[in-house]
Amino acid sequence: MRIILSLFLLVFTSSLSRADDIAAGRKLVEANCSRCHAIGMEGGSPLAKAPPFREVVTRYPPDSLGEALVEGIVTGHNEMPEFVFTADQASEIIAYLDSLVTK
Ligand code: HEC
Repeated sequence: MRIILSLFLLVFTSSLSRADDIAAGRKLVEANCSRCHAIGMEGGSPLAKAPPFREVVTRYPPDSLGEALVEGIVTGHNEMPEFVFTADQASEIIAYLDSLVTK
């Protein structure tokens, strides 16, 4: 019984922190990316050349962007400022992008 209870708590708290990560990631992309990219499930990008994030995640699995986010994301972005995020911020952004992938 005790084992079942702690398993339940583990699943519960890890899904809670995932929701926190998604919310924090959404704030980060709102602050840093949304003036060019459409960051949600609808709408066009404010800067037409910038692909909506919901399309970016179909081209790159969000996990594969982690390194780029930490080392400085430059992916041929002539018009995009270089961003360097901490590992925590990167995993929050990835959690958010992951939430856009239609499963
Ligand atoms: C000043 C405008 C601007 C901002 C701000 C911006 N981007 Fe971009 N981004 C672009 C443009 C324009 C492109 C597409 C052209 C290119 O690849 O050079 C792009 C492309 C991308 C791509 C590559 C998509 C592909 O298919 O190759 C990724 C990933 C990306 N942006 C992520 C981000 C993230 C994450 C942020 C916020 C941290 C961000 N961008 C902020 C303008 C911007």
